[in-house]
Amino acid sequence: MSDTPAAAVHHGRIELLVDLDRHPVHRPGTAAYDELFERCCADLAAHGMFDLEGFLRPAAIERAVHELRPLVDHDSFLHAREHNVWFLPADEAAATHGLDLGHPSLATMLTANRTVCADQMAGAVVMAVYEWAPLRAFVAATVGAAELHPMADPLARVNVMSYRDGEALQWHFDRARFTTTLLLQRPLAGGRFEWRHGLRSADGVDHDGLGEVIAGTDASVDHRDVRAGTLNVFAGHDTVHRVAPVHGEVDRLIAVYSWAEQAGVTFTDAERIGFYGRA
Ligand SMILES: [Fe+2]
Repeated sequence: MSDTPAAAVHHGRIELLVDLDRHPVHRPGTAAYDELFERCCADLAAHGMFDLEGFLRPAAIERAVHELRPLVDHDSFLHAREHNVWFLPADEAAATHGLDLGHPSLATMLTANRTVCADQMAGAVVMAVYEWAPLRAFVAATVGAAELHPMADPLARVNVMSYRDGEALQWHFDRARFTTTLLLQRPLAGGRFEWRHGLRSADGVDHDGLGEVIAGTDASVDHRDVRAGTLNVFAGHDTVHRVAPVHGEVDRLIAVYSWAEQAGVTFTDAERIGFYGRA
């Protein structure tokens, strides 16, 4: 039997794609799992995220990018829109938060990227990793979810985003409690992940602080610039975050894994058209 990543996908040999020696997410009940689990939980509590660096093996990264390149270049949806941190129309956001329309926290920014959907990637490395149940169970345990399910949505369950020179995912809050991503290609410059804790909680929103983050005058913005192959789990519902503009000829390629705490979760047709240009 061949040990190539393509053969690994075909034969379900996930250990050829994922470095399970370093990240034994599939072995609950062992000391190695407990150590990993405790480290991830501690990172989540302290930083609102954890990284599994080197999760995807180098040959699998290479294969994943090779599989995705033609889809990204020729069959992706160019998503470009102006939005505020709430992804709401300005008047609705102003009314919801009791602000004047001109408040700096309601400023809009341009997000642009190219998206490939799960239904275009059957049999790809990124899909095999998403469908591998032990990873889902590990993420569920770390975020304190009783169970996680693959989204029932054939487009939204896995998305791959490409950010080219000048493109970014601008400041926003997530709808979901947490998001799981797998970086596949790092750009030459820019494209780093940035976030600012402490501006939203059950007690309310610091709108003036948000305005400073958007204006680029907040000195407390954190950032991380991870290597390809890193799996990241991020709690983004209450932490404003962005992918800063990419610079250079190499695009930032990242897979976004969506799991749901209930079974059968899908987007509406309107949401699919908004995000992907098709229902
Ligand atoms: Fe986000």
